Amino acid sequence: MIDSVKLPHLMKYMGSKRELLDFIISSINDLDIESNWFCDLFSGTSIVGCSLKDEYNIQINDIQIYTSIFANTYLPNIKNSINPTELEKIKERVLFYVDEFYKKHPGLIFDYRLVSNYNELHRLEIQQQNLIYNNFEIGFHLFVKYYSGTYWSYTQCVWIDSIRAVAEDYIGQRGYYIILSSLIYAMSYTSQSTGHFAQFRDVTESNMTDIMLYRIRDIWTYLEKKFLEILNVVDVDVINRYSITTLDYLDCLRLIERNTIVYADPPYSSVHYSRFYHAIETLIRYDYPNVKYKGRYREDRHQSPFGKKTEVKNAFAKLFKEIKNRNSHLILSYSDNGMISQDEIMEIGNAIMGNTYKGNIQTKEYTHSKMGRSDIHSMGVNELIISYKRQ
Ligand SMILES: C[S@@+](CC[C@H](N)C(=O)[O-])C[C@H]1O[C@@H](n2cnc3c(N)ncnc32)[C@H](O)[C@@H]1O
Repeated sequence: MIDSVKLPHLMKYMGSKRELLDFIISSINDLDIESNWFCDLFSGTSIVGCSLKDEYNIQINDIQIYTSIFANTYLPNIKNSINPTELEKIKERVLFYVDEFYKKHPGLIFDYRLVSNYNELHRLEIQQQNLIYNNFEIGFHLFVKYYSGTYWSYTQCVWIDSIRAVAEDYIGQRGYYIILSSLIYAMSYTSQSTGHFAQFRDVTESNMTDIMLYRIRDIWTYLEKKFLEILNVVDVDVINRYSITTLDYLDCLRLIERNTIVYADPPYSSVHYSRFYHAIETLIRYDYPNVKYKGRYREDRHQSPFGKKTEVKNAFAKLFKEIKNRNSHLILSYSDNGMISQDEIMEIGNAIMGNTYKGNIQTKEYTHSKMGRSDIHSMGVNELIISYKRQ
């Protein structure tokens, strides 16, 4: 197993298993399965699958496209993959775009250093939010137009768009993924929202000091720190194969080899990842989508059946059936406060997997981060590992 400390943390992510890796990996090892392939089916940050890249051939899959950026950063040998001096060249290009944008829009000035009271701050935020109605005549203005004065300030958005533009120069090279992973990290830690992008905070007299702290954070400083950390990562020379897909879980399961160890960590609440992380999806797609609601979500967001009361049982049944179809093994992460209970999952699993599989459950107490959600009261939950090993 690759030490997770050495796979740099890239984003605040709801349900990330980084802190639970030891529990998950030891549960996998306890099963003692002889297999060449490991599939991380709902990979998110992809930390679980990528930590096993020295032991198996790895398939990483998640329906959200941004997840493939993390996997493409972690899976190849990162160390020495790009010369640190490249960062200087990247910065030069970014500064060129930033400068060009400012020169083209001399009237757009939103200076937080001049703000001395709540009313001034409120006015500044609304003026920026209204840029969504502006027609910009210069390329790479998506974040400035859609998100100024929301999760990020206008200035931060100018930098995000300019860095995204420079990433295009690196398509087909390792640098593309390293730049974008570092940018996602910077966006995650400069956003004024609470760890995700479901809603930005409206300014109030009581939160204004805190919001100002986020508004003046420098995107480049965060990016640079992460970029160098990724490059300095001590890595192993791995010769195993890997594949990275952004498919629905059922489509991915058609592609796996027989006798694959499938690690499944589906959503366990009604919160859809596509709503929490829409802005990161848009960063990668960069497609100027139609956006809706106060949170400015993409209209074409994916709605997972695992997050819907009426569909979750059927979604699990299909998962079990396809794994059995491929003569593979399942290791399922779930929570005891999920959409359905562990008994319900086992009932579906036992009925479908039958006696060619051996089912088992392990639990561990775990405190989940609230990620700003007020609908979660008690965060001390049991983390479950439900496994079905083919006999
Ligand atoms: C609990 S998170 C996984 C966290 C991950 N194990 C980690 O450590 O970061 C669940 C993931 O399932 C993905 N997802 C939801 N519905 C999906 C579907 N139908 N097919 C594939 N992925 C899906 C979400 O995008 C999300 O990243």
